[in-house]
Amino acid sequence: MDKPVYILGIESSCDDTSASVICDAKVLSNVVANQEVHSKYGGVVPELASRAHQQNIVPVVQQALEQANISKDQLSAIAFTKGPGLMGSLLVGTSFAKSLALGLQIPLIDVNHMQGHILAHFIDEADCKIPTFPFICLTISGGHTQIVKVSNHFEMEILGETIDDAVGEAFDKSAKILGLPYPGGPLIDKHAKLGNPKAYKFTKPKVGDLDFSFSGLKTGILYFIQKQERINPNFIAENLNDICASIQGTIVEILMDKLKNAVKQTGIKNIAIAGGVSANSEIRSRLLLAEKHFGWNTYIPKFEYTTDNAAMIAITGYLKYLNNDYADISVTAKARLKVTE
Ligand code: KG4
Ligand code: ZN
Repeated sequence: MDKPVYILGIESSCDDTSASVICDAKVLSNVVANQEVHSKYGGVVPELASRAHQQNIVPVVQQALEQANISKDQLSAIAFTKGPGLMGSLLVGTSFAKSLALGLQIPLIDVNHMQGHILAHFIDEADCKIPTFPFICLTISGGHTQIVKVSNHFEMEILGETIDDAVGEAFDKSAKILGLPYPGGPLIDKHAKLGNPKAYKFTKPKVGDLDFSFSGLKTGILYFIQKQERINPNFIAENLNDICASIQGTIVEILMDKLKNAVKQTGIKNIAIAGGVSANSEIRSRLLLAEKHFGWNTYIPKFEYTTDNAAMIAITGYLKYLNNDYADISVTAKARLKVTE
């Protein structure tokens, strides 16, 4: 039998510092340190994020190794997020990974964060199916909204994407309008569970078959709330659950409409979701229903692999390791990077 491969994954693209150790495709540890510091600013403050990564990275990596119960000398390679993301944040993970790989004299593997979200589906988990190629992945996060055709682990094609805001931004900006702290997506989800999604109607945008637009929806929500508050200053407090359910219902309907278009255009019925917004309970249950109603094979990531985490970076690193696809020590972080790069 082949020797087991141990990969340490490091993720620091935005506001979560994370480290994970995997053995082949199995996760041994996945430590995530969230940065509370941003919540009072209503969004991520890049300079504060970078500083917090610097404070967190050593203890987070140490904890990941301890939980996996292995020493750093057993590692086969170090995988890290090269981009896309905030430059100051990416640089912390990149420099740390480079120094560690150099010190241990083991391969360094650069990982595209967006590929990581998608390839998290290849983590070996007892209760999760691995997607069959080709599949369509709806990649929905705080920075991206894309429909990607995945023909192989590293053969991806963007079929459609947002022309303005990402869907996570639509959740977070709507939450901000309602006075909820950042990140607002999980809070909208929580309140929506107690509300009526048909209470208020918001207009869905008209954009190309597989493209998205969320900035108009956000403005529509803002004007609606301002108008209602002029009539009743307590409108938000009195109707928060219904407002959240109606916003979430509209967003999820937009996402499902686009997925149906993608299935129609490509004939592919293997459908995966990935990224932070794939934690949303409504999109998860709508996808499960689609298995029954439309005969789709759906792939829904385990909750802990939806929002930013290093296990997704480690599994992508593992798949690249199997291809001997290593980075040169001169590799640098890239703030902008397409999923296909
Ligand atoms: O993938 P991710 O952790 O970071 C990026 O790469 O952007 O995604 C973060 C986004 C945030 O906008 C957050 O509000 C959203 O994912 N999010 C959710 C939920 N959990 C996280 N949005 C809706 N419902 C959720 N349950
Ligand atoms: Zn992400």
